[in-house]
Amino acid sequence: MDKIVIEGGAHLRGEVVVSGAKNAALPLLASSLLTGGPCTFKNVPQLNDIATMGKLLVQLGCEVDTSGRTTVVAPPPASAARRRTFEAPYELVKTMRAGVLVLGPLVARFGRARVSLPGGCAIGERPIDQHLKGLQAMGAQVSLTHGYVECEARRLRGARIVLDIPTVTGCENLIMAAALASGVTIIENAAQEPEVEELAQVLVKMGAHIEGAGTAIIQVEGVDELHPIEHTILPDRIEAGTFLVAAAVTRGDVLVRNARADHLEAVIGKLREAGVHVAAEGDGLRVRHGGDLGQLDITTQPYPGFPTDMQAQFMVLCAVARGQSVIKEAIFEHRFMHVPELSRMGADIHVDGRVAVIRGVPRLGGAKVMATDLRASASLVLAGLVADGVTEVLRVYHLDRGYERIEKKLRGLGAHIRRAKA
Ligand code: EPZ
Repeated sequence: MDKIVIEGGAHLRGEVVVSGAKNAALPLLASSLLTGGPCTFKNVPQLNDIATMGKLLVQLGCEVDTSGRTTVVAPPPASAARRRTFEAPYELVKTMRAGVLVLGPLVARFGRARVSLPGGCAIGERPIDQHLKGLQAMGAQVSLTHGYVECEARRLRGARIVLDIPTVTGCENLIMAAALASGVTIIENAAQEPEVEELAQVLVKMGAHIEGAGTAIIQVEGVDELHPIEHTILPDRIEAGTFLVAAAVTRGDVLVRNARADHLEAVIGKLREAGVHVAAEGDGLRVRHGGDLGQLDITTQPYPGFPTDMQAQFMVLCAVARGQSVIKEAIFEHRFMHVPELSRMGADIHVDGRVAVIRGVPRLGGAKVMATDLRASASLVLAGLVADGVTEVLRVYHLDRGYERIEKKLRGLGAHIRRAKA
């Protein structure tokens, strides 16, 4: 088990390049199951979650070939449906909830699937009822037995699905399922995240008929078959946002390359509100900050609102800002697991349910802290960058799920950070 050791105080300077988006790559890799041949994905981030999706696809009969940032996924032929079961086992899905993204493609192309229920996670209960409601509306027989979802349909048929909540992976599962259904599916209250839009664009490349992706109403007219494609994955807006905050809290001057301003409007807006200079430059964003940081009021929302995946990182900014800030976590029930660890570093944070009140302090103090989930671990690294003395972040396997060699990238910006055996 590794840990990350940080000596705080460096002002970050220089350039950093953002990797491909984890939350785009996961549904895209799963979408290969819908096609009749090898799909090639470029700019695939080298992350533990991506490796887990690879293992899952192999388990389902795919050939997966990864070299560097290129992954080729060759799905089994449609005839495989007669010979095998398609099971996504608990052992894999419990380590990565996004494993549920194979459900829609499997039922759509092979007519049945057995997928482990993901179970709860550190940040919330995270049910998949909306995924199942949508598949049932498309005519699938759905049953839950021994911790698994069993789903079957000779051929899914188009339906009108009004989601109770704009679920990201729920929408992705249903768009993929609808792409091979007979007839038209309309998904209302759909998720508008760039990763959902990217998935729809790739499905259209495969031959699907989809309109409205990126809006709250998505229409999918099903086709009989989809063909393989080659695609380059978009940059990771959450990794980019994390580096923007890193530069701001360390009073640095950094060019975050391969960062899309159009995917980060809510994040850039809050940074500017705190007095941070952020401007488009070349293929990225220049972030520069020298003075004090201003207090903020933040409520997490579905895209294009302020992303919940940036909440923990901004809590560090608020912890060292002037005045009192308020953060309301409106997406997940338990996404303040980083608070007790930041408090151990001297932050002044009071949580009441889903609301955190943060009184800025002049400085944080280095300490041994424990990561609990992916974005919480990123916030502890940011806190370590600004803290006096040495911080040790334990259980960094959480970090490796979603950040590619973050300590190497931060060292490239002048941070005193290294990985060590815990
Ligand atoms: C995606 O998770 C992301 N993961 C998450 O990123 C991100 O935090 C989340 O969207 C919100 O933006 C991937 O894309 C792989 P949701 P997802 O379904 O799809 C409730 C990270 O750090 N809900 O949009 O699982 C749910 O409990 C990760 O990279 C239902 O009630 O999130 C939550 O409160 C963490 N029923 C809310 O909706 C359902 O059927 C939003 O969840 C589905 C969801």
